[in-house]
Amino acid sequence: MTESLPVRIFPDRTAASRTLAEEVAALVRSINDSGRPAVLGLATGRTPLPFYAELIRLHREGKLSFARVVTFNLDEYLGLPGNHPESYRAFMQKELFGHVDIPVENIHIPDGMVGPAELEAHCAAYEEAIRAAGGIDFQLLGIGRTGHIGFNEPGSPRESRTRRVELDPITRQDAAPAFGGLEHVPEYAISMGCGTILEARRIALLAWGSAKAGIVREALTGPVTDQVSASFLQDHADATFYLDSEAGAEL
Ligand code: PGA
Repeated sequence: MTESLPVRIFPDRTAASRTLAEEVAALVRSINDSGRPAVLGLATGRTPLPFYAELIRLHREGKLSFARVVTFNLDEYLGLPGNHPESYRAFMQKELFGHVDIPVENIHIPDGMVGPAELEAHCAAYEEAIRAAGGIDFQLLGIGRTGHIGFNEPGSPRESRTRRVELDPITRQDAAPAFGGLEHVPEYAISMGCGTILEARRIALLAWGSAKAGIVREALTGPVTDQVSASFLQDHADATFYLDSEAGAEL
């Protein structure tokens, strides 16, 4: 089948993550050498774990400093304080930020505790902070079984910006084990929009395992549609899928 954007298939997730981590480290160094901070868009979930492990390894080996890295995370659950173990702020601290030399003021994650009255302004300020940082140089993505990138569930317009989103039942189901039951999974989140994500200069979407093979095929070879927000990447100038052999099995 013909894919409409570059796809790299690796024997396993470790090999894929190692390759991408080295590429990102080189990108950070070259942007820093040009005299400005590198701006990374980051993701959560199970998928980025081996990639973050590789970034930490490169940092420990002295090959990657986060001293001049600015980060923006894709999303956060609404209603979860940053110290809740399932919040994405806690996830990032545990899986990456706590192990590298990133200045705390360089980290941006939507605030899950923002009240309804401040929500719109909070989302607009998030967009403004991305702009003020010069835009995102590199955006990391996973893909949900609904085809979401960030929490842009089916029906999310291509032009959508950072906003409150309702989680798809499939997404909540997938999160239920981590929360100890569906009833504890938040119903809403704040997410960068498809339009926000598509403005990143370079994008890598990672997917591992056979459960993702079907949606990966749809995103790459199906129509560009808001029913599969990852399909919007087909029109991006510099987006690549990094897959293990199982996630790439249906291509
Ligand atoms: P996962 O989630 O990495 O936990 O599979 C991916 C996603 O929902 O984007």
